[in-house]
Amino acid sequence: MKRVFSGMQPTGVLHLGNYLGALKHFIPLQEEADCYFCVVNLHALTVPRDPEELQKKTVELAGLYLAAGLDPEKATLFVQSHNPDHAEAAWLLQCVARIGELKRMTQFKDKGKGSDSVSAGLFTYPALMAGDVLLYQTDLVPVGEDQKQHLELTRDLADRFNRTYGETFRIPEPQIGKTGARIMGLDQPERKMSKSAASEANYITVLEHPDSIVKKFKRAVTDSGNEIRFDPDQKPGVSNLLSILSVLTDKPISTLEEEYQGKGYGHLKLDTAEAVIEELKPIQDRYHKLVQSGEVEKVLADGAERARAVTEATLAEMKKAMGLIPRR
Ligand code: TYM
Repeated sequence: MKRVFSGMQPTGVLHLGNYLGALKHFIPLQEEADCYFCVVNLHALTVPRDPEELQKKTVELAGLYLAAGLDPEKATLFVQSHNPDHAEAAWLLQCVARIGELKRMTQFKDKGKGSDSVSAGLFTYPALMAGDVLLYQTDLVPVGEDQKQHLELTRDLADRFNRTYGETFRIPEPQIGKTGARIMGLDQPERKMSKSAASEANYITVLEHPDSIVKKFKRAVTDSGNEIRFDPDQKPGVSNLLSILSVLTDKPISTLEEEYQGKGYGHLKLDTAEAVIEELKPIQDRYHKLVQSGEVEKVLADGAERARAVTEATLAEMKKAMGLIPRR
């Protein structure tokens, strides 16, 4: 059986990009693979956070994993800091990673903006992510497009480790959807939808009220023409709506282009809003019930044990290979 690992940061809001690019793909995988889905709260510390808010968001994201359809009987759901092997593996991998390759990470360049006063953790972030994936001897990592570079580095580190210290890690493959892997901001369709966007008009949150979803789609930025055609360069706004609708309806973009021939942007906007509302409504209902039940914490406690049972063996192998003697 294939092993799957993925993680999401418990920061800001979980938005439609996170959902369509990653979380939605987790659900079918739990039926066919041995899956580990993590709330990566250590990664969240790489930029300053309010501690209380981080606690709240950690449980909220785990609740959303469950509400979206992850079943703790089928997949292991846990919080990164509950399995200390992640932080330890990260250190070992930092000693394998090169400064040059970490400097080339576009996420570091974007978030760090060349400043010396960002945290050292923001810089070494990809080594922690590599540890997350490699500790589980992962085959497949479902993620959105923006994580591709981090996963290439993960593969390079695994390969370098294997060549230097002997065969230790399985080399993971990213799984990036053909459509929906890069959902763009509704107010700025040339840039990806982002939790840290300046305006709330940029994103739809998974817990967003239907009225607000309709409002935001109605105001979504499109070009001044009237032709509904998929062309991300010339028509980024319309193309983004087509991508969203295509993932949600399971219809190829070419079919949608035909269906919307001669119809206005308003039509496409409203239909997309409705498809989003229909997808999110059951998740929202389940989420509100779950939060009251206190079930989330139980699932996470159990998940952490199951996760550690897997990573112990890999971590012990890493240490032995690198020359760290075991404790008597
Ligand atoms: P994070 O928390 O930024 O995002 C979580 C997932 O959402 C995807 N995503 C998007 N997909 C489509 N369109 C968008 N606009 C969009 N924005 C975000 C991301 O690609 C991601 O799959 N470093 C990771 C978390 C992480 C991780 C891991 C992932 C830590 N360790 C190990 C996989 C395996 C991150 O910050 O994702």
